[in-house]
Amino acid sequence: MKKKFLSMVLAATMTSALLAGCSSSGTTEETTDAVEETAEETTDAVEEATEEAAEETEETTEEATDTAAAGDQTVGIAMPTQSLERWNRDGSYLKEQFEGKGYTVELTYSDNKIDQQVKDIEGLIADEVDLLVVAAIDGESLSQVLADAKDAGIPVISYDRLIMNTDAVSYYVSFDNYTVGTLQGQYVVDTLDLDNAGDKTYNIEFTAGDPADNNAGFFFNGAYDVLKPYIEAGTLVVPSGQTEFDQVATAQWDTATAMERMQNILGSYYSDGTQLDVALCSNDSTALGVTQAIGTDYAGDNTVIITGQDGDVANLANIIDGKQTMTVYKAVANEAVATLDLGIALLNGETPDAGLIDASGWSFECAYDTESYNNGTGIIPSYLLVPTVVTADNIQEELVDTGYYTLDSNGYPQAN
Ligand code: BGC
Repeated sequence: MKKKFLSMVLAATMTSALLAGCSSSGTTEETTDAVEETAEETTDAVEEATEEAAEETEETTEEATDTAAAGDQTVGIAMPTQSLERWNRDGSYLKEQFEGKGYTVELTYSDNKIDQQVKDIEGLIADEVDLLVVAAIDGESLSQVLADAKDAGIPVISYDRLIMNTDAVSYYVSFDNYTVGTLQGQYVVDTLDLDNAGDKTYNIEFTAGDPADNNAGFFFNGAYDVLKPYIEAGTLVVPSGQTEFDQVATAQWDTATAMERMQNILGSYYSDGTQLDVALCSNDSTALGVTQAIGTDYAGDNTVIITGQDGDVANLANIIDGKQTMTVYKAVANEAVATLDLGIALLNGETPDAGLIDASGWSFECAYDTESYNNGTGIIPSYLLVPTVVTADNIQEELVDTGYYTLDSNGYPQAN
Protein backbone atom coordinates (compact mmCIF):
# COMPACT_ATOMS: atom_id res chain seq x y z
CA MET A 1 0.00 0.00 0.00
CA LYS A 2 2.85 2.36 0.90
CA LYS A 3 4.73 1.44 -2.30
CA LYS A 4 1.65 2.17 -4.33
CA PHE A 5 1.25 5.58 -2.68
CA LEU A 6 4.92 6.47 -3.31
CA SER A 7 4.74 5.56 -7.01
CA MET A 8 1.55 7.60 -7.37
CA VAL A 9 3.35 10.66 -5.95
CA LEU A 10 6.30 10.13 -8.28
CA ALA A 11 4.07 9.69 -11.30
CA ALA A 12 2.15 12.87 -10.47
CA THR A 13 5.37 14.86 -9.99
CA MET A 14 6.87 13.58 -13.21
CA THR A 15 3.72 14.48 -15.12
CA SER A 16 3.92 18.03 -13.76
CA ALA A 17 7.60 18.18 -14.79
CA LEU A 18 6.66 17.18 -18.30
CA LEU A 19 3.85 19.70 -18.40
CA ALA A 20 6.18 22.41 -17.08
CA GLY A 21 8.63 21.54 -19.84
CA CYS A 22 5.96 21.62 -22.53
CA SER A 23 4.50 24.92 -21.49
CA SER A 24 7.88 26.73 -21.30
CA SER A 25 8.27 29.42 -23.92
CA GLY A 26 11.52 27.94 -25.25
CA THR A 27 14.38 29.78 -23.45
CA THR A 28 17.05 27.47 -21.95
CA GLU A 29 17.08 29.43 -18.68
CA GLU A 30 13.36 29.03 -18.16
CA THR A 31 13.54 25.35 -18.97
CA THR A 32 16.45 24.85 -16.55
CA ASP A 33 14.52 26.71 -13.80
CA ALA A 34 11.48 24.60 -14.40
CA VAL A 35 13.49 21.39 -14.27
CA GLU A 36 15.24 22.49 -11.06
CA GLU A 37 11.93 23.44 -9.46
CA THR A 38 10.43 20.15 -10.47
CA ALA A 39 13.43 18.27 -9.09
CA GLU A 40 12.98 20.08 -5.74
CA GLU A 41 9.27 19.33 -5.73
CA THR A 42 9.97 15.70 -6.47
CA THR A 43 12.49 15.46 -3.60
CA ASP A 44 9.99 17.12 -1.21
CA ALA A 45 7.21 14.83 -2.32
CA VAL A 46 9.35 11.73 -1.93
CA GLU A 47 10.51 12.86 1.52
CA GLU A 48 6.91 13.55 2.56
CA ALA A 49 5.71 10.21 1.27
CA THR A 50 8.56 8.39 2.98
CA GLU A 51 7.78 10.11 6.31
CA GLU A 52 4.08 9.31 5.96
CA ALA A 53 4.88 5.72 5.12
CA ALA A 54 7.14 5.44 8.17
CA GLU A 55 4.43 6.94 10.41
CA GLU A 56 1.87 4.57 8.96
CA THR A 57 4.13 1.57 9.57
CA GLU A 58 4.66 2.70 13.17
CA GLU A 59 0.88 3.09 13.70
CA THR A 60 0.14 -0.28 12.15
CA THR A 61 2.79 -1.93 14.31
CA GLU A 62 1.40 -0.25 17.44
CA GLU A 63 -2.14 -1.32 16.53
CA ALA A 64 -1.00 -4.86 15.84
CA THR A 65 0.81 -4.97 19.19
CA ASP A 66 -2.30 -3.60 20.98
CA THR A 67 -4.58 -6.15 19.37
CA ALA A 68 -2.11 -8.95 20.03
CA ALA A 69 -1.94 -7.87 23.69
CA ALA A 70 -5.74 -7.48 23.81
CA GLY A 71 -6.16 -10.89 22.19
CA ASP A 72 -4.37 -12.47 25.14
CA GLN A 73 -6.31 -10.58 27.78
CA THR A 74 -9.68 -11.20 29.34
CA VAL A 75 -12.00 -8.71 31.01
CA GLY A 76 -14.36 -10.01 33.70
CA ILE A 77 -17.58 -8.03 34.00
CA ALA A 78 -19.86 -8.64 37.00
CA MET A 79 -23.31 -7.05 36.69
CA PRO A 80 -25.98 -7.19 39.44
CA THR A 81 -29.13 -8.46 37.75
CA GLN A 82 -31.00 -8.71 34.51
CA SER A 83 -34.27 -7.96 36.26
CA LEU A 84 -33.56 -4.20 36.37
CA GLU A 85 -33.55 -2.98 32.79
CA ARG A 86 -30.48 -0.79 32.71
CA TRP A 87 -27.95 -3.49 33.65
CA ASN A 88 -28.86 -5.42 30.51
CA ARG A 89 -27.87 -2.37 28.51
CA ASP A 90 -24.70 -1.83 30.57
CA GLY A 91 -23.65 -5.46 30.19
CA SER A 92 -24.08 -5.56 26.45
CA TYR A 93 -22.49 -2.15 25.83
CA LEU A 94 -19.45 -3.07 27.93
CA LYS A 95 -19.09 -6.45 26.24
CA GLU A 96 -19.37 -4.87 22.80
CA GLN A 97 -16.78 -2.17 23.64
CA PHE A 98 -14.12 -4.51 25.03
CA GLU A 99 -14.68 -7.19 22.37
CA GLY A 100 -14.45 -4.49 19.72
CA LYS A 101 -10.88 -3.85 20.88
CA GLY A 102 -9.97 -7.52 20.74
CA TYR A 103 -10.39 -8.47 24.41
CA THR A 104 -12.13 -11.63 25.51
CA VAL A 105 -15.06 -10.85 27.81
CA GLU A 106 -16.62 -12.93 30.56
CA LEU A 107 -19.93 -11.35 31.64
CA THR A 108 -21.85 -12.48 34.71
CA TYR A 109 -25.25 -11.50 36.14
CA SER A 110 -25.94 -12.52 39.74
CA ASP A 111 -29.72 -12.30 39.97
CA ASN A 112 -29.46 -9.58 42.66
CA LYS A 113 -28.10 -12.24 45.04
CA ILE A 114 -25.09 -11.11 47.04
CA ASP A 115 -23.63 -14.61 47.57
CA GLN A 116 -24.06 -15.36 43.91
CA GLN A 117 -22.10 -12.24 42.94
CA VAL A 118 -19.27 -13.22 45.31
CA LYS A 119 -19.20 -16.67 43.65
CA ASP A 120 -19.31 -15.14 40.18
CA ILE A 121 -16.35 -12.88 40.96
CA GLU A 122 -14.46 -15.82 42.50
CA GLY A 123 -15.05 -17.64 39.22
CA LEU A 124 -13.68 -14.72 37.20
CA ILE A 125 -10.57 -14.60 39.40
CA ALA A 126 -10.12 -18.37 39.00
CA ASP A 127 -10.36 -17.87 35.24
CA GLU A 128 -7.43 -15.44 35.58
CA VAL A 129 -9.13 -12.42 34.06
CA ASP A 130 -6.83 -9.43 33.63
CA LEU A 131 -9.31 -6.74 34.67
CA LEU A 132 -12.51 -6.73 36.72
CA VAL A 133 -15.41 -4.35 36.08
CA VAL A 134 -17.93 -4.70 38.90
CA ALA A 135 -21.35 -3.15 39.53
CA ALA A 136 -21.98 -4.34 43.08
CA ILE A 137 -25.30 -5.62 44.38
CA ASP A 138 -24.25 -4.78 47.91
CA GLY A 139 -21.37 -2.35 48.07
CA GLU A 140 -20.32 -3.63 51.49
CA SER A 141 -20.07 -7.34 50.69
CA LEU A 142 -17.20 -7.65 48.28
CA SER A 143 -14.19 -6.83 50.49
CA GLN A 144 -13.00 -10.44 50.83
CA VAL A 145 -13.38 -11.50 47.23
CA LEU A 146 -11.77 -8.29 45.99
CA ALA A 147 -8.86 -8.81 48.38
CA ASP A 148 -8.32 -12.05 46.44
CA ALA A 149 -8.44 -10.07 43.19
CA LYS A 150 -5.83 -7.71 44.55
CA ASP A 151 -3.58 -10.59 45.61
CA ALA A 152 -3.89 -11.96 42.08
CA GLY A 153 -2.84 -8.54 40.72
CA ILE A 154 -6.16 -7.88 38.98
CA PRO A 155 -7.14 -4.20 38.82
CA VAL A 156 -10.78 -3.48 39.71
CA ILE A 157 -13.03 -0.77 38.27
CA SER A 158 -16.03 -0.03 40.44
CA TYR A 159 -18.72 0.45 37.82
CA ASP A 160 -21.61 2.86 38.47
CA ARG A 161 -21.92 1.88 42.16
CA LEU A 162 -19.04 2.49 44.54
CA ILE A 163 -17.70 -0.65 46.22
CA MET A 164 -17.05 0.10 49.87
CA ASN A 165 -14.38 -0.87 52.40
CA THR A 166 -11.80 -2.35 50.10
CA ASP A 167 -8.51 -0.95 48.88
CA ALA A 168 -8.68 -3.29 45.87
CA VAL A 169 -10.74 -0.77 43.88
CA SER A 170 -8.53 1.28 41.58
CA TYR A 171 -11.07 3.63 40.02
CA TYR A 172 -14.76 4.48 39.96
CA VAL A 173 -16.74 5.22 36.78
CA SER A 174 -20.24 6.57 37.19
CA PHE A 175 -22.50 9.55 36.62
CA ASP A 176 -22.58 12.46 39.02
CA ASN A 177 -25.00 10.73 41.38
CA TYR A 178 -25.68 13.72 43.63
CA THR A 179 -26.58 15.78 40.54
CA VAL A 180 -29.10 13.11 39.50
CA GLY A 181 -30.95 13.92 42.73
CA THR A 182 -30.60 17.69 42.44
CA LEU A 183 -32.03 17.54 38.89
CA GLN A 184 -35.11 15.72 40.24
CA GLY A 185 -35.52 18.20 43.10
CA GLN A 186 -35.01 21.23 40.89
CA TYR A 187 -37.53 19.87 38.40
CA VAL A 188 -40.15 19.89 41.18
CA VAL A 189 -39.18 23.41 42.29
CA ASP A 190 -39.44 24.74 38.74
CA THR A 191 -42.59 22.88 37.73
CA LEU A 192 -44.55 23.99 40.81
CA ASP A 193 -42.83 27.41 40.77
CA LEU A 194 -42.19 26.96 44.49
CA ASP A 195 -40.30 30.24 44.78
CA ASN A 196 -43.51 32.09 43.99
CA ALA A 197 -45.93 29.79 45.79
CA GLY A 198 -46.96 32.39 48.38
CA ASP A 199 -49.33 30.69 50.83
CA LYS A 200 -49.98 27.77 48.55
CA THR A 201 -48.79 24.36 49.82
CA TYR A 202 -48.10 21.09 48.04
CA ASN A 203 -47.97 17.51 49.31
CA ILE A 204 -44.99 15.33 48.48
CA GLU A 205 -43.87 11.77 49.25
CA PHE A 206 -40.39 10.33 48.78
CA THR A 207 -39.30 6.92 47.51
CA ALA A 208 -35.57 6.20 47.53
CA GLY A 209 -33.39 3.30 46.47
CA ASP A 210 -31.59 0.33 47.93
CA PRO A 211 -29.63 1.06 51.15
CA ALA A 212 -27.05 -1.53 50.02
CA ASP A 213 -26.32 0.65 46.96
CA ASN A 214 -23.99 3.53 47.81
CA ASN A 215 -25.60 5.59 45.02
CA ALA A 216 -29.00 5.56 46.67
CA GLY A 217 -27.99 7.99 49.41
CA PHE A 218 -26.43 10.38 46.89
CA PHE A 219 -29.62 10.45 44.80
CA PHE A 220 -31.84 10.99 47.83
CA ASN A 221 -29.63 13.64 49.40
CA GLY A 222 -29.31 15.50 46.12
CA ALA A 223 -33.09 15.75 45.78
CA TYR A 224 -33.73 16.38 49.47
CA ASP A 225 -31.12 19.13 49.74
CA VAL A 226 -32.90 21.06 46.98
CA LEU A 227 -36.37 20.51 48.49
CA LYS A 228 -35.53 20.87 52.17
CA PRO A 229 -35.82 24.69 52.32
CA TYR A 230 -39.36 24.44 50.90
CA ILE A 231 -40.26 21.71 53.41
CA GLU A 232 -38.89 23.85 56.22
CA ALA A 233 -40.83 26.84 54.95
CA GLY A 234 -44.04 24.77 54.87
CA THR A 235 -44.52 25.15 51.11
CA LEU A 236 -43.92 21.44 50.69
CA VAL A 237 -45.68 19.15 53.16
CA VAL A 238 -44.95 15.44 53.67
CA PRO A 239 -48.24 13.99 55.07
CA SER A 240 -46.63 10.61 55.89
CA GLY A 241 -43.85 12.41 57.78
CA GLN A 242 -41.37 10.02 56.13
CA THR A 243 -38.39 12.15 55.23
CA GLU A 244 -35.44 10.06 56.40
CA PHE A 245 -33.59 7.93 53.87
CA ASP A 246 -34.09 4.77 55.94
CA GLN A 247 -37.87 5.36 56.03
CA VAL A 248 -38.23 5.83 52.30
CA ALA A 249 -35.61 3.35 50.99
CA THR A 250 -36.58 0.44 48.72
CA ALA A 251 -34.66 -2.82 49.11
CA GLN A 252 -33.13 -3.90 45.80
CA TRP A 253 -34.88 -1.03 44.01
CA ASP A 254 -37.78 -3.43 43.68
CA THR A 255 -40.89 -2.24 41.80
CA ALA A 256 -43.37 -4.32 43.83
CA THR A 257 -41.86 -3.16 47.13
CA ALA A 258 -42.15 0.49 46.06
CA MET A 259 -45.73 -0.12 44.95
CA GLU A 260 -46.79 -1.70 48.23
CA ARG A 261 -45.23 1.06 50.30
CA MET A 262 -47.01 3.73 48.26
CA GLN A 263 -50.31 1.84 48.53
CA ASN A 264 -49.90 1.90 52.32
CA ILE A 265 -49.11 5.61 52.32
CA LEU A 266 -52.11 6.37 50.10
CA GLY A 267 -54.35 4.24 52.32
CA SER A 268 -53.10 5.84 55.53
CA TYR A 269 -52.68 9.52 54.61
CA TYR A 270 -54.63 10.26 51.44
CA SER A 271 -57.85 8.24 51.63
CA ASP A 272 -59.66 11.28 53.12
CA GLY A 273 -59.24 13.12 49.83
CA THR A 274 -55.89 14.76 50.63
CA GLN A 275 -54.20 15.68 47.35
CA LEU A 276 -50.82 14.19 46.47
CA ASP A 277 -48.88 16.61 44.27
CA VAL A 278 -45.44 15.02 43.99
CA ALA A 279 -44.02 11.51 44.24
CA LEU A 280 -40.28 12.03 44.25
CA CYS A 281 -38.86 8.66 43.15
CA SER A 282 -35.11 8.11 42.89
CA ASN A 283 -35.26 5.89 39.81
CA ASP A 284 -37.50 4.32 37.20
CA SER A 285 -37.97 0.87 38.76
CA THR A 286 -39.36 2.48 41.92
CA ALA A 287 -41.30 5.09 39.91
CA LEU A 288 -42.98 2.24 38.06
CA GLY A 289 -44.31 0.77 41.32
CA VAL A 290 -45.37 4.16 42.65
CA THR A 291 -47.19 4.95 39.39
CA GLN A 292 -49.03 1.63 39.63
CA ALA A 293 -50.06 2.38 43.22
CA ILE A 294 -51.32 5.82 42.24
CA GLY A 295 -53.19 4.25 39.32
CA THR A 296 -55.03 1.81 41.56
CA ASP A 297 -55.17 3.34 45.04
CA TYR A 298 -55.23 7.12 44.69
CA ALA A 299 -58.63 8.77 44.89
CA GLY A 300 -57.63 12.18 43.50
CA ASP A 301 -57.84 13.12 39.84
CA ASN A 302 -54.94 15.57 39.60
CA THR A 303 -51.79 14.66 37.70
CA VAL A 304 -49.16 13.73 40.28
CA ILE A 305 -45.61 14.82 39.40
CA ILE A 306 -43.56 11.60 39.39
CA THR A 307 -39.79 11.67 38.94
CA GLY A 308 -37.48 8.85 37.89
CA GLN A 309 -34.07 7.96 36.58
CA ASP A 310 -32.68 5.77 33.77
CA GLY A 311 -35.05 6.01 30.83
CA ASP A 312 -36.37 2.44 31.14
CA VAL A 313 -38.72 1.71 28.26
CA ALA A 314 -41.79 1.13 30.46
CA ASN A 315 -41.19 4.50 32.11
CA LEU A 316 -40.63 6.32 28.83
CA ALA A 317 -43.96 4.90 27.68
CA ASN A 318 -45.53 6.22 30.90
CA ILE A 319 -43.95 9.63 30.25
CA ILE A 320 -45.46 9.68 26.78
CA ASP A 321 -48.83 8.64 28.24
CA GLY A 322 -48.61 11.36 30.93
CA LYS A 323 -48.38 8.88 33.85
CA GLN A 324 -44.78 9.74 34.83
CA THR A 325 -43.48 13.27 34.51
CA MET A 326 -39.74 13.04 34.03
CA THR A 327 -36.73 10.78 34.21
CA VAL A 328 -33.06 11.59 34.62
CA TYR A 329 -31.32 9.94 31.71
CA LYS A 330 -27.81 8.56 32.00
CA ALA A 331 -26.27 7.50 28.69
CA VAL A 332 -24.84 4.17 29.79
CA ALA A 333 -23.40 3.67 26.32
CA ASN A 334 -20.99 6.50 27.17
CA GLU A 335 -20.34 5.06 30.62
CA ALA A 336 -19.18 1.91 28.82
CA VAL A 337 -16.87 3.92 26.55
CA ALA A 338 -15.28 5.68 29.56
CA THR A 339 -14.82 2.28 31.24
CA LEU A 340 -13.22 0.88 28.11
CA ASP A 341 -10.58 3.60 27.85
CA LEU A 342 -9.89 3.50 31.58
CA GLY A 343 -9.70 -0.30 31.40
CA ILE A 344 -7.23 -0.26 28.50
CA ALA A 345 -5.01 2.19 30.39
CA LEU A 346 -5.04 -0.07 33.46
CA LEU A 347 -4.35 -3.16 31.36
CA ASN A 348 -1.36 -1.31 29.92
CA GLY A 349 -0.05 -0.73 33.44
CA GLU A 350 -0.76 3.02 33.40
CA THR A 351 -2.08 5.14 36.28
CA PRO A 352 -4.67 7.31 34.54
CA ASP A 353 -5.74 10.70 35.85
CA ALA A 354 -7.62 13.72 34.48
CA GLY A 355 -5.50 13.50 31.32
CA LEU A 356 -7.40 10.36 30.24
CA ILE A 357 -10.41 12.51 29.38
CA ASP A 358 -8.62 14.63 26.75
CA ALA A 359 -6.44 11.79 25.57
CA SER A 360 -9.52 9.66 24.86
CA GLY A 361 -11.28 12.42 22.90
CA TRP A 362 -14.72 11.50 24.25
CA SER A 363 -17.66 13.23 22.65
CA PHE A 364 -19.46 13.44 26.01
CA GLU A 365 -18.82 15.47 29.14
CA CYS A 366 -16.95 13.82 31.97
CA ALA A 367 -15.29 15.14 35.12
CA TYR A 368 -12.32 13.64 36.94
CA ASP A 369 -13.14 13.80 40.64
CA THR A 370 -10.74 13.11 43.48
CA GLU A 371 -12.89 14.44 46.33
CA SER A 372 -16.41 13.06 46.39
CA TYR A 373 -16.13 9.29 46.69
CA ASN A 374 -14.47 7.84 49.77
CA ASN A 375 -15.11 4.12 50.04
CA GLY A 376 -13.92 3.84 53.63
CA THR A 377 -10.31 3.16 52.69
CA GLY A 378 -9.73 6.55 51.11
CA ILE A 379 -10.81 8.57 48.11
CA ILE A 380 -11.39 6.55 44.96
CA PRO A 381 -10.50 8.59 41.85
CA SER A 382 -13.67 8.89 39.81
CA TYR A 383 -14.72 9.59 36.26
CA LEU A 384 -18.20 11.12 36.46
CA LEU A 385 -20.43 11.60 33.45
CA VAL A 386 -23.26 14.14 33.25
CA PRO A 387 -26.98 13.19 33.51
CA THR A 388 -29.82 14.87 31.60
CA VAL A 389 -33.47 15.61 32.41
CA VAL A 390 -35.87 13.94 29.98
CA THR A 391 -39.58 14.79 29.71
CA ALA A 392 -42.23 14.20 27.05
CA ASP A 393 -41.03 17.43 25.41
CA ASN A 394 -37.45 16.36 24.73
CA ILE A 395 -37.59 12.56 24.34
CA GLN A 396 -37.21 12.96 20.60
CA GLU A 397 -34.23 15.31 20.84
CA GLU A 398 -32.39 13.66 23.75
CA LEU A 399 -33.09 10.00 23.18
CA VAL A 400 -34.19 9.41 19.60
CA ASP A 401 -32.14 11.95 17.62
CA THR A 402 -29.05 10.91 19.60
CA GLY A 403 -29.55 7.32 18.45
CA TYR A 404 -30.02 5.74 21.90
CA TYR A 405 -33.65 4.75 21.23
CA THR A 406 -35.93 4.28 18.23
CA LEU A 407 -39.66 4.87 18.27
CA ASP A 408 -41.76 1.78 17.65
CA SER A 409 -44.87 1.82 15.46
CA ASN A 410 -46.93 3.12 18.42
CA GLY A 411 -44.51 6.00 19.03
CA TYR A 412 -42.94 4.46 22.17
CA PRO A 413 -39.14 4.47 22.55
CA GLN A 414 -37.27 1.14 22.37
CA ALA A 415 -33.61 1.00 23.41
CA ASN A 416 -31.15 0.45 20.55
C1 BGC B 1 -28.03 3.05 39.32
C2 BGC B 1 -29.34 3.54 38.80
C3 BGC B 1 -30.35 2.42 38.85
C4 BGC B 1 -30.36 1.68 40.19
C5 BGC B 1 -31.20 0.44 40.14
C6 BGC B 1 -28.22 2.46 40.68
O1 BGC B 1 -27.00 2.07 41.22
O2 BGC B 1 -27.11 4.13 39.36
O3 BGC B 1 -29.18 4.00 37.49
O4 BGC B 1 -31.63 2.93 38.65
O5 BGC B 1 -29.06 1.34 40.56
O6 BGC B 1 -30.82 -0.41 39.13
